[in-house]
Amino acid sequence: MNRTSFLGSKPIGRIGFGAMQLAGPGVMGPPRDPAAARAVLRRAVELGVDHIDTSQYYGPDTVNDLIRESLYPYPENLKLVTKVGVRRDEAGAWLPALTPQELREGVEANLRSLRVERMDLVNLRISDGAGGPGVPLPEQLGALEDLRQEGKLDLIGVSNVTRDGVEQALDLVDLGEVQNSYSILDRENEPIVELCREREIAFVPFFPLGSAFRRGPTTLAQDPAVSWVAGKHSATPSQIALAWLLARYERMLLIPGTTSVVHLEENLAAANIELDEDDLGALEAVEQVGRPRA
Ligand SMILES: NC(=O)c1ccc[n+]([C@@H]2O[C@H](COP(=O)([O-])OP(=O)(O)OC[C@H]3O[C@@H](n4cnc5c(N)ncnc54)[C@H](OP(=O)(O)O)[C@@H]3O)[C@@H](O)[C@H]2O)c1
Repeated sequence: MNRTSFLGSKPIGRIGFGAMQLAGPGVMGPPRDPAAARAVLRRAVELGVDHIDTSQYYGPDTVNDLIRESLYPYPENLKLVTKVGVRRDEAGAWLPALTPQELREGVEANLRSLRVERMDLVNLRISDGAGGPGVPLPEQLGALEDLRQEGKLDLIGVSNVTRDGVEQALDLVDLGEVQNSYSILDRENEPIVELCREREIAFVPFFPLGSAFRRGPTTLAQDPAVSWVAGKHSATPSQIALAWLLARYERMLLIPGTTSVVHLEENLAAANIELDEDDLGALEAVEQVGRPRA
């Protein structure tokens, strides 16, 4: 198992950490136990995690504040990846914020709340798969390219995007990653994984365990094929779901989310599981569920 990959030209571990679930319910406000959230972040870095996926709009600000409070000054090799293109209203709705001015403000807000001068990667979270309401894709990516040239970010990514949207984006800018929903329970984005493989771009599946919103880990535990493979490897169903993703493509970078140190340790240990052809064949039978809303 190749445990190291690349984000752009930077070496990066195959298993990182997705920080979204560290906010309160509905990804709004503070968590019930902020000390526990900080402990998860510190343990992640202690165990070698060098990739944290976040956004200023988680909370808003809550998750970036937790990351800064727990980890600043950051280890040299830690890659902080964010996304822009969304704002939250007071009820927690996820609203598009895709004008060049809003994208610039989104990047600045991340730099401020994380207390960094430069993000390793900023994902443009597209709302309708290719462009976004009223704002052409070239303008959105142009705004991020301007920020890249100003030294505020190293790499541009796209998220929640169609295959056509990825192809359009590639005609406009270099892409450091594509971040879309994908897991053993939801392979709808397989054509985009294939495109990333062909173009040697990192693919970062969000909801790698099927998502907290859809009780993904419970569904995994109930699946007979996942249980069979888990039993064979003395592993948990969640570990098998992560090992399956690792086996898909060497530039697939995982960002499982958890509020638990025990689950964090379990998720990182999935890097040691090598699935063989029999396992991968058996896992073809895993029942597909509808994609949860991001
Ligand atoms: N680009 C986008 O639009 C977008 C959208 C959504 C998410 N994301 C990113 O993707 C990351 C991952 O998504 P996610 O956290 O929502 O979904 P996920 O990683 O698929 O699942 C997280 C859920 O799995 C549970 N879990 C984690 N490890 C487990 C284990 N070993 N055993 C049993 N249960 C386990 C967690 O509960 P516990 O807390 O109890 O462990 C939580 O309920 C986010 O943090 C975010 O950074 C991006």
